[in-house]
Amino acid sequence: MTAAVRRRESWVTWVSETAAPESAAPPASGPPGNRLLQALRGRRPDRTPVWLMRQAGRYLPEYRTLRARAGDFLTLCKTPELACEATLQPLRRFPLDAAILFSDILTIPDAMGLELSIIEGRGPRLGRVLRSEADVRALRVPEPESELAYVGETLRRVREALDPEVALIGFAGSPWTLACYMVQGQGDAEFALPRGMCYQQPAVLHLLLERLTCAVAGCLAAQAAAGAQALMLFDTWGGLLPGAAYREFSLRYMARVIERLRGSETAAHCPVILFSKGAGAHLEQLADCGCDALSLDWSMDLSVARRRVGDKVALQGNLDPLALCAPPELLRREVARILASHGAGGGHIFNLGHGVRPDTDPDAVAVLVDAVHEFSAQLPDQLQPPA
Ligand code: CP3
Repeated sequence: MTAAVRRRESWVTWVSETAAPESAAPPASGPPGNRLLQALRGRRPDRTPVWLMRQAGRYLPEYRTLRARAGDFLTLCKTPELACEATLQPLRRFPLDAAILFSDILTIPDAMGLELSIIEGRGPRLGRVLRSEADVRALRVPEPESELAYVGETLRRVREALDPEVALIGFAGSPWTLACYMVQGQGDAEFALPRGMCYQQPAVLHLLLERLTCAVAGCLAAQAAAGAQALMLFDTWGGLLPGAAYREFSLRYMARVIERLRGSETAAHCPVILFSKGAGAHLEQLADCGCDALSLDWSMDLSVARRRVGDKVALQGNLDPLALCAPPELLRREVARILASHGAGGGHIFNLGHGVRPDTDPDAVAVLVDAVHEFSAQLPDQLQPPA
């Protein structure tokens, strides 16, 4: 065991046993600024920035009330006043370092004419699905300023209402993950139809992924123009593909989206966070695809990920969302474990390995955020990430 690892482990024990908040953190030094953006540039702010995937949503009673008022999920997304309110709700409860636009990855297929509906308790459904080359050729790339104008309007409202120290994140699905829904027509554990297409109709799939690359890059560039300060790509279903197919159908198109953003007027310098669930095997290639940060699922220790990618990218994650159902002391210990696993080097953003589950107790989220603040402010400066 190296000295660094030994120091880290003793620190975990120490922070986990430091129970009383009043015994805690030394005062932060200097103005905090926008912690998330600092960490995305590889720095270590006065404390580790924290936000959570799906931080807005059904686990919050105020979200359930708002959704009932809207009538349905899509009306909520498409009404800027209500979507702005949903975005801000978690920020009113918890001192988070980022807000994420309240919307959905499937608004792009919806704007491409595939007729999205979200059925209570059953998830998303598309009224039209893609099966043939003619289906794909009939798709048009949406104009973000008109067909997705509600997204820009929501972002402008949120940015105006937000504290300048809180970053605003825009997002889209990766081309592959959007293709999964557009071919399958609904959520699925296996997505056998789009995966089968890799073998049966690869040219049609590539055509679809090219169109989606244009659509996703265009929508993200418009989000940056409307006030998003970081952009996240959700590749939730990338991990379903075997290695070579992952590179051909998922990774390649995410790299192309990023390349287009870098060449755009509005998003050339906007940091990009990439979440490719179940794609730990491809970490080195992901770190080389042009993104600024990788958001990790819970399957890999941050220390291992950091060793594999060096300081090329920031790392976001990666607490198991189920840890939020643990008793508070155990949850605090898990938070400490994640912080210690990354170590005191720069470029860590605390998050979950996937979204907050609807059955989560909001009080557990408060415990998590407090623990990140308390422990990361104490993280000894001399502690180095493992060599
Ligand atoms: O993170 C946030 O707080 C921002 C909002 C957000 C939503 N969806 C709201 C939502 C984000 C970033 C998403 C992304 C999204 N949507 C992904 C990628 C991330 C992930 O979770 O893997 C995917 C695959 C989707 C597709 C989607 N939309 C699914 C599978 C579902 C059903 C989920 C469920 O739990 O029923 C949706 C609907 C959806 N999107 C809800 C919310 C709050 C629930 C809708 C409701 O009933 O109120």
